[in-house]
Amino acid sequence: MHRQNVSTDYRSITVAPYNPTIGAVIGNVDLTCPLMEIEVVELQRALTEHLVLFFRDQRLSLGDQLRFAEYFGKIGRHVGRKTNSEPTDDPRIRRFHSGGNKLDVSGNVWHSDQSCAPVPPLASVLYLHTVPANGGGDTAFANMYAAYEALSGRMKCYLDGLTATHEGARVFGEGTPSAVHPVVVRHPESGRKLLYVNNCFTTRINEIAREESDAILRFLFEHCGRPEWSTRFRWKPHSHAIWDNSCTQHRAIADYLPNIRSGYRVQIEGELAPTR
Ligand code: SIN
Repeated sequence: MHRQNVSTDYRSITVAPYNPTIGAVIGNVDLTCPLMEIEVVELQRALTEHLVLFFRDQRLSLGDQLRFAEYFGKIGRHVGRKTNSEPTDDPRIRRFHSGGNKLDVSGNVWHSDQSCAPVPPLASVLYLHTVPANGGGDTAFANMYAAYEALSGRMKCYLDGLTATHEGARVFGEGTPSAVHPVVVRHPESGRKLLYVNNCFTTRINEIAREESDAILRFLFEHCGRPEWSTRFRWKPHSHAIWDNSCTQHRAIADYLPNIRSGYRVQIEGELAPTR
């Protein structure tokens, strides 16, 4: 019901839906090599249709990961100064490493990456070479089209036209951006409406009283993460994922410490601020 225009006519890659509402596992593609044009076109289309793409058994170098990301747009940079992920020598790449002596986990609250930016990242790409020995460390993903579509007509009308403040300082400390975005936005590619507030960065709905904003946001945060439109991706060593940051939320599940979970993330720049 939530996947419109899902096409099965992929000629190059294979696309197996991961669950009924979000995600697909992609096969018949080797990301350690430059891709053919048909593979790139089909991957882009699969991302629009399935919102998150998962790949197995791809032993990627940092160069492979960057080349893959560039098929989807220009590589961007993280807005945060103080984050749990660590910069590497290449400012486009962040290391995501937890476990051992590092007992904090980045991104363990539902969020859309850096929605505090005036133009948030279009997509993020995460590669894990090492996964926890206890089987934990999944990432949960949720479909924000489906979250919007499940609201009552009266609630959709109420939210339409409201704006919300997203504050980076709350997560990354002083000196990081804050931005105002519509509560309901349209995806630039699909044109479909979706809910655009998240529990990590969104601090208030601007046009109503603080108490009203707190209550509505509490409801929306709970609603966005409901199991009906979310899934958990079980990582294996050398799994790789790309998610459309504008119509999904995700959270890392911190159930594996002190086991080690380790890999790298790059992000793709957005082109436009979210709009209605
Ligand atoms: C993130 O928030 O981008 C991290 C997701 C994860 O580590 O599973």
